[in-house]
Amino acid sequence: MPNATLARFIEHATQLSRQESEPCQCVASLAPFMMELLAHAGDFLEAHHYQSDPFHYARNLVYQAPDDNLSLYALVWSPGQWTPVHDHGSWGVVGIVEGVLEERSYVCLSADRHRDEGIELVKGGMILLPPGAVTSFVPNPDHIHVTGVPAERPRAVSLHLYGRMMNNYHIYDVEAGTRQFVEVEHNG
Ligand SMILES: [Fe+2]
Repeated sequence: MPNATLARFIEHATQLSRQESEPCQCVASLAPFMMELLAHAGDFLEAHHYQSDPFHYARNLVYQAPDDNLSLYALVWSPGQWTPVHDHGSWGVVGIVEGVLEERSYVCLSADRHRDEGIELVKGGMILLPPGAVTSFVPNPDHIHVTGVPAERPRAVSLHLYGRMMNNYHIYDVEAGTRQFVEVEHNG
């Protein structure tokens, strides 16, 4: 990890995670650092971080903490590629390197956040994130969402920092009112 801006970003994130800060404090503190990181993304992102996949958006690992308490990925979204409806079970800070990333929110109306069925979700607002934009989230019930790029828009590349390894998460079936915990892959 030779780049100074990336090293500073990781150092600050590591300190916050070691302090066991509240998720809202982590994202509030790290969002300005993510903005700075975006300004220097061209200095540390390498060709393999821009790897795409014809079948689904690609997740390319940039940094993994030795204790797995932090992870940073470069996500590459080809036109028409979307996530399922999901949450993260973690705080996260997202910044846009290239293109326009779209996020569509869902609002959970069910009082019990721990059930895997009987989940009532309604569609909320959406946001368009252009290059340089930073967004964030804290764990469920905040930020059940779908993220992606419509078919008519060009590729997007985004940086995603999470407060854990993001190798599994909940995906939701909105009509059935259910969710399941699934594994997700990334490129090393
Ligand atoms: Fe997400």
